[in-house]
Amino acid sequence: MVRGFWEKLKRPIVALAPMADVTDAAFRRIIAKYGKPDVMYTEFVSSAGLCSEKGRKRLCIDLLYHKSERPIVAQLFGADPEQMEESAALVVELGFDGVDINMGCPDRAIEKQGAGAALIKNPELAAELIAAAKRGAGDIPVSVKTRIGYRENTMSTWLPALLEAEPAAIVIHARTRKEMSKVPAHWDALEGAAMLAKKYGTPRGHTLILGNGDVKNLSEAKEKAERYGLDGVMIGRGIFGNPWLFNEKKRKKVPTTKERLRVLAEHVTLYEKMYKGIKNFDIMKKHFKAYAHGFDGAKELRVALMGTHRAEEVDAVIKMHKLTKTR
Ligand SMILES: Cc1cc2nc3c(=O)[nH]c(=O)nc-3n(C[C@H](O)[C@H](O)[C@H](O)COP(=O)(O)O)c2cc1C
Repeated sequence: MVRGFWEKLKRPIVALAPMADVTDAAFRRIIAKYGKPDVMYTEFVSSAGLCSEKGRKRLCIDLLYHKSERPIVAQLFGADPEQMEESAALVVELGFDGVDINMGCPDRAIEKQGAGAALIKNPELAAELIAAAKRGAGDIPVSVKTRIGYRENTMSTWLPALLEAEPAAIVIHARTRKEMSKVPAHWDALEGAAMLAKKYGTPRGHTLILGNGDVKNLSEAKEKAERYGLDGVMIGRGIFGNPWLFNEKKRKKVPTTKERLRVLAEHVTLYEKMYKGIKNFDIMKKHFKAYAHGFDGAKELRVALMGTHRAEEVDAVIKMHKLTKTR
């Protein structure tokens, strides 16, 4: 089993979750600067798309990263083993530290291809995809991100099926596909998962198990990893408006409003520099509410920010807010 960078991480491992149109290269670079997690993932990218010349050009934008983000894992989705092998090889060429296969996405368009969460209903294909990704990935580790089941919790069969294929790590979002994100995560369902992984291990190592769902901060991540005997925890939505999230220990103090707004401006400027003419500026707007909340005048500031169309305007709106607040 190739475990690569996973082997070198201190336990519990705290990972940043892949989130399409959120954890893009601009936000990840900001996170790497203000509070670096143990490992980061790209947004998910179509394996089929990467195998066509036209698709590859477009999708490689989603595979941009900066060395400060390392270790960085590229997440792929797909249902064709040949394409998975080819795209995993491309991920190696691009210099990533790992390849991850998405087996949890509930998006209908993705499930229709037999990919994402649909793979929970097709463990044989899931195993084939892991084997194919491993062939393509060579010396870098292959991991899987999935859920506890499709309609109900089927961990007792789904997890062994994945473990048989020996991925380096499995991240388990503690909800079923049917539950989407509508109910609290069932962390109890993850109890014993890491122990089972050890049983399936070989002298060359065993699959690491990380839990995911509703974790808001680093202390909670550590508490969950310990309570459920996991190798680590992955955090997604907790990062919204808080690139300092993984820096809890060193920082102690919560970031001030001034600091938040300064980093928001920095984030927008970087986003524009990287994606101008490529990605819509409006994608950035979901971050505005997250950065600008919980202080006097936050609502008015958010309204003004929502009306902006470029970084320069965001800067001006923030400056105006500061002027009116210090008067
Ligand atoms: C906006 C958004 C986009 C997401 N995109 C992806 C993705 O590309 N790949 C993936 O595996 N999971 C994706 N997820 C799921 C998250 O990685 C994570 O499993 C989920 O949000 C639960 O963790 P949390 O409660 O810590 O946010 C996404 C979630 C959100 C909210």
